[in-house]
Amino acid sequence: MQNDIQEILISEEEIQQRIRELGAQLSTEYAGRTPLVICVLKGAFIFMADLVKVITVPVEMDFMAVSSYGASTKSSGVVKIIKDLDASVEGRDVLIVEDIIDSGLTLSYLIEMLQGRNAASVTVVTLFDKPAGRTVNLEAAYTGFVIPDEFVVGYGLDYAEQYRNLPYVGVLKPEIYSK
Ligand code: XMP
Ligand code: MG
Repeated sequence: MQNDIQEILISEEEIQQRIRELGAQLSTEYAGRTPLVICVLKGAFIFMADLVKVITVPVEMDFMAVSSYGASTKSSGVVKIIKDLDASVEGRDVLIVEDIIDSGLTLSYLIEMLQGRNAASVTVVTLFDKPAGRTVNLEAAYTGFVIPDEFVVGYGLDYAEQYRNLPYVGVLKPEIYSK
């Protein structure tokens, strides 16, 4: 698996350090409240797990799965709900935990949906942001790392469902895509 990686973009240590900073900021933002933290599966599951451990206010967690990519590396622009939330978001302070924002299509759809369900507030924390890929005007309130417009894997992010378990984020060797 490691042999398929051309370059490590962000190391395990850098990721963990940045998550501690984000956790501290979010603990301040949500002081005195109990946010509903929503993990956007599958990519955000590792980030979610590490992030909630460094948030010091009480949180509730829920999970939803959406799909816009299939096995390809480009957004189709179509967002499909594979698994909806269990909890009601009505009147809740919702924190969406995303792995990566590229075009912004997935997130703009989710934000509208949660606002339509009458969440009290909707805030986004994303670990990675590729602003060069944006097709809709959207920015996360909290961003871990701004990265170049390259397809990345690791730390939850996959290529054809593999590489999610790498503890760092890297770029695949080009020959892996042409297999
Ligand atoms: P959009 O374009 O809707 O994309 O902002 C967000 C979703 O697309 C996936 N995505 C990636 N997945 N490496 C991945 O493994 C990438 O470089 C990448 N860029 C976007 C991801 O699922 C994200 O939630
Ligand atoms: Mg994916």
